[in-house]
Amino acid sequence: MAQDRVVIFDTTLRDGEQSPGATMTHEEKLEIAGLLDDMGVDIIEAGFPIASEGDFAAVSEIAKNSKNSVICGLARANFKDIDRCHEAVKHAAQPRIHTFIGTSPLHRAIPNLTKDEMAERIHDTVTHARNLTDNVQWSPMDATRTEWDYLCRVVEIAIKAGATTINIPDTVGYTAPRESADLITRLIATVPGADEVIFATHCHNDLGMATANALAAVEGGARQIECTINGLGERAGNTALEEVVMAMKVRNDIMPYTTGIDSTKIMNLSRRVSAVSGFMVQPNKAIVGKNAFAHESGIHQDGMLKNAETFEIMRPADVGLAETNIVMGKHSGRAALRSKLADLGFELADNELKDVFVRFKALADRKKEIYDEDLIALMQTSATAG
Ligand code: KIV
Ligand code: ZN
Repeated sequence: MAQDRVVIFDTTLRDGEQSPGATMTHEEKLEIAGLLDDMGVDIIEAGFPIASEGDFAAVSEIAKNSKNSVICGLARANFKDIDRCHEAVKHAAQPRIHTFIGTSPLHRAIPNLTKDEMAERIHDTVTHARNLTDNVQWSPMDATRTEWDYLCRVVEIAIKAGATTINIPDTVGYTAPRESADLITRLIATVPGADEVIFATHCHNDLGMATANALAAVEGGARQIECTINGLGERAGNTALEEVVMAMKVRNDIMPYTTGIDSTKIMNLSRRVSAVSGFMVQPNKAIVGKNAFAHESGIHQDGMLKNAETFEIMRPADVGLAETNIVMGKHSGRAALRSKLADLGFELADNELKDVFVRFKALADRKKEIYDEDLIALMQTSATAG
């Protein structure tokens, strides 16, 4: 794979679904997986097969139906989880097992393992997974709060045991961009065998830095980004797929990386994930929010009508949206009103526009958003008055 190609690993159906209340039905998961596959996602993490019969069935079915994407399942660091995961993903043309264990001091305390015992467990479980498939991903959970020496030691063990992708999770959204980049750069420079595997970044958004941290990790040498549609995920969510993909596309001058994503499919996926998860997208959410391509202020609307690049750094069509939304409200100016009325079939002379504009402003002071129907009514009352 080319040096500048970034693999997109979508975990909407696994980490995203772990958001409290975001549970999806079997059919909904199949639908989302089909859309992700179609959009060009390289790897779909379809679920956690040991978690429930339902998860196992969904991962198996997604594996059977996948066309282009690698289908991955999650497994804790024990043989039972890994075997169950393999049972589910083995139906895919390209299966992957993703196994993980918490390596930071706080996480090591949970299974009460010493550093040596955990190292041995990592060796044994990654070896076991690799005996089942040649595509194995390993994650030291809470990597960004793991002691540097120990992190290097366990990453080396996982690589020697056969892991082909090493994922470095920022499980609690604790890192910051410069640190995120440095960590990957230093791991690649330090750990023997690091140049033979792909390093992945998996960021959470607790401090609102998930997208920045993921992109910084890519600058540091990571070539797989783990993300979810709409940034769905536990607590404050995961890195949003649409944000990293569009950032690398729009600012390719300074982030010269490519992905296999057809960005025109983003908006539909965002809407479907929002509908099936029941998680509304905030209006000002980057790329997919209702207001991401909407303009209300007069200066902005005037600029947009003259040249869209004045206030838009990407075209709505790039993400699958039909058009820019010129929202009529109290901040709108005459140029936008004239253009909107022309769209509705009303061509006005300057003196007519002057009168309608006064009444439009009065209405906009009373009403938050002015719809086409309001403007038509306004025009009808002018006609009657005239
Ligand atoms: O956030 C995390 O650490 C995870 C792992 C299971 C990769 O989701
Ligand atoms: Zn996670």
